[in-house]
Amino acid sequence: MCGIVAYIGNQQAAPIIIKGLKRLEYRGYDSTGVSLFNGSELYTIKTKGKVSELELKLEDQNSIDAQVGLGHTRWATHGIPNDKNAHPQASNSSNLVLVHNGIIENYASLKEELIQRGYTFTSDTDTEVLVNLIEDIQKKEKVKLGKAVQIALTQVIGAYAIVVFDRRKPNELIAARLGSPLAIGVGENEFFVASDATPFIEYTKNVIYLEEEHLAIIRSNRDIAIRKIKTDKVIKPYVEELQMSLENIQKGGYEHFMLKEIFEQPQAIRDTLRGRLLSNEGKITLSSLRDHENKFLKAKRILIVACGTSWHAGLVAEYLIEKFTRIPVEVEYASEFRYRDPIIFQDDIIIAISQSGETADTLAAIKIAKERGAFVYGVCNVVGSSISRMTDTGCYTHAGPEIGVASTKAFTTQITVFSLLALHLGMLKGSLSRSEYQQHLAELESLPDKVSEILKQETLIKEVASSFNDTNNCIYLGRGYNFPVALEGALKLKEISYIHAEGYPAAEMKHGPIALIDEQMPVVVIATKKGHYDKVVSNIQEIKSRKGRIIAVVSEGDVRVKELADYCIEVPESLECFTPILTTIPLQLLSYYIAVQRGCNVDQPRNLAKSVTVE
Ligand code: M6R
Repeated sequence: MCGIVAYIGNQQAAPIIIKGLKRLEYRGYDSTGVSLFNGSELYTIKTKGKVSELELKLEDQNSIDAQVGLGHTRWATHGIPNDKNAHPQASNSSNLVLVHNGIIENYASLKEELIQRGYTFTSDTDTEVLVNLIEDIQKKEKVKLGKAVQIALTQVIGAYAIVVFDRRKPNELIAARLGSPLAIGVGENEFFVASDATPFIEYTKNVIYLEEEHLAIIRSNRDIAIRKIKTDKVIKPYVEELQMSLENIQKGGYEHFMLKEIFEQPQAIRDTLRGRLLSNEGKITLSSLRDHENKFLKAKRILIVACGTSWHAGLVAEYLIEKFTRIPVEVEYASEFRYRDPIIFQDDIIIAISQSGETADTLAAIKIAKERGAFVYGVCNVVGSSISRMTDTGCYTHAGPEIGVASTKAFTTQITVFSLLALHLGMLKGSLSRSEYQQHLAELESLPDKVSEILKQETLIKEVASSFNDTNNCIYLGRGYNFPVALEGALKLKEISYIHAEGYPAAEMKHGPIALIDEQMPVVVIATKKGHYDKVVSNIQEIKSRKGRIIAVVSEGDVRVKELADYCIEVPESLECFTPILTTIPLQLLSYYIAVQRGCNVDQPRNLAKSVTVE
């Protein structure tokens, strides 16, 4: 969490940093700040709240004539969101300023030592400890800034992406990372440093993704030197071309990124399928598997690790992979996996799923799996992200940038990837017939159009939302492939509308949750024709007889559920295994409109951040 933007070059730094921070607000938005150096004075302006509030404080962004500066948008870990805990944090001499994304776990002991050496602290942050540690090393060791940062980082335990500026060395920025991402934009006589590439997309297409435990000394005269923090080994910078456009990261006329991303799903799914589902040849090709098919075919077990929505996609993946390949699958929360000394066999395959590719818990789970010799396959959306680079191979979802904190198109495209993977492996294993395979390929190809059909019901779903936007609780039920969709629907509702919601397998209701049903309780039930339809209809009857209010997601032309439910939203028929891609769409729109009608900030819900780079 937290977003970093820094600039050094010959343009005005303030507008670049402010615009960049706005693009990074998905990473945190509880307080923010900027430091700007005009050649003689170092100005630091900070505030509680969003970047728009910082903008107000800055008034005229060009009034500070600075060609170098650094900014930060925060998701609080150490210390409440307020002006003094906002970054940049300054050293005691006020010569150094530092922005930080991550957590310094041993900050308390370092702080104690620094206090004994006469340092004082004005904030509650771990970041202020780090900037003073660097200053202390500069003084003690009489070394240059880059070296002082390097030495300091060998003393800290935790995770960081940092940028440091010293007013006495105004042509230089130091950037370093461990566990949190940093991208360096390389322009003509200028450099940009940011938590991702979006802040500099209109200025340069040349990007260096700083690797783990690397430190970069960036000088305004087109000079960048990278070295490994621990070993001091010099690294040749690897400049890549950025595959992203400005249009990709703008709202494009939609009120919120979340709504835009919901409506992008037909195209996003097409992009996921492109070049992989070869309908003319009647086959699937996955380049990520080319050299690894045998590993999958011999695997005794697949372990999936992920968090949040990606974990829900993992549950759908479990159903898909087990059905088509008969390889046993276990799905684990990455945050639990990393701390429970998991049993990993040599021929296990670990699949890590992550939209951002930066989730700290998922990264840590991969690390453990790799240390124990497992082969790790990644399913990520963000190209060049830490997880995509840490895994042995993998498959991008190609959903395009997902900026709304609530994950939408990442989920449906992750399931699309797993549909391809499961069908392809099933075909190779011979565990599904050629005709079944062909039938599934044809259906897979039709899914983007079916998603478009569902999106046409936006007005109806908005109306349904208006009947439920005053509720305090909600239950979501689904069976089989649609049980994870029930979990995902509940997560969407709670994270953006702050309504308490729980997802359950429909048949589990009678084991407890049914006690909650009364005339106040809305129950969202996924009741498509394929897959346990009769059983789900019985569950609906049980809710009806206890006066629950029922919103059902049904197959086109349904009659039985329509007689029972208060509201029905239809989705086109599909093969059972693909229904999650369809049934999840109305649930996304339902939670979106409920949240909007309750006046919630849909794209930036309270307490959340898009990319969870802390434990
Ligand atoms: O980037 P990741 O897919 O690894 O993120 C995992 C979760 O943090 C994420 O899915 C989160 O639960 C979303 N806010 C859900 O909408």
